[in-house]
Amino acid sequence: DDVAHPPAFPWRHRGFFSSYDCGALRRGFQVYRQVCASCHSVERIRWRELVGVTHTKEEVQQLCKEVDVLDGPNDEGEMFERPAKLFDVLPKPYLNEEQGRSANGGAYPPDLSLMVKARHEGHDYIMSLLTGYMEPPAGKVMMEGLYYNPYFPGGGISMPPPLQDEGVEYPDGTVATISQQARDVAQFLNWTAEPEMEQRKKNAGLNMLALIFMTLGAGYMKRWRWSPLKTRK
Ligand code: HEM
Repeated sequence: DDVAHPPAFPWRHRGFFSSYDCGALRRGFQVYRQVCASCHSVERIRWRELVGVTHTKEEVQQLCKEVDVLDGPNDEGEMFERPAKLFDVLPKPYLNEEQGRSANGGAYPPDLSLMVKARHEGHDYIMSLLTGYMEPPAGKVMMEGLYYNPYFPGGGISMPPPLQDEGVEYPDGTVATISQQARDVAQFLNWTAEPEMEQRKKNAGLNMLALIFMTLGAGYMKRWRWSPLKTRK
């Protein structure tokens, strides 16, 4: 097959008991917003869901003020624009798929909310894809408008290399290399696909604990029930 397999990166949130790296999520959201959002939506995420994860409520409300949302119809039957509210989904770059395709030479930039789930080992794939652009091997002829990337099936992707060194400026002082940005946005997109992960792991811990006590209880019960039969000769 004409495709490179991404390596397994040591994501900190992959452990049974590990949470997300909130600093990475916050930087990843910044990369999404400043770079990816001009072509890709994350239509399953609402502003309020960022509260307590990447930003405080006040910070998210501040971000919302900069975004116009089409609402309506009002009592006069007219559509109108208003600033985004916490319950709105994050803004989409295009009105529909046709507009998205016409802006990208016929290729559609897919919604990224569930991309980590849609591709095998999605976080590793996104990390590899974003850092994997390179010159095509000798003899490979690239079609007009396609960029060589060995991690994309077929090797030619219509997405121009989106990241640049220092392409964003991180307020926390992290140096914004291409791989740092890729690493952060891959973790952010893991969160958009699995915002319930931390709660799920907490529940799993409690459930395992309950199972242990239930097993001990069942074992004790069994021995207690059978003890008179066992001792009788
Ligand atoms: C495809 C991620 C920025 C245009 C994709 C895919 C991913 C992705 C995961 C899917 C590849 C697949 O189907 O397996 C990102 C991320 C970005 C980003 C994380 C920001 C860091 C952009 C930008 C543009 C763009 C800025 C527009 C200039 C596209 C297009 C495709 C695509 C057109 C479809 C490619 C094809 O089917 O050949 N992107 N992208 N992306 N992206 Fe992006």
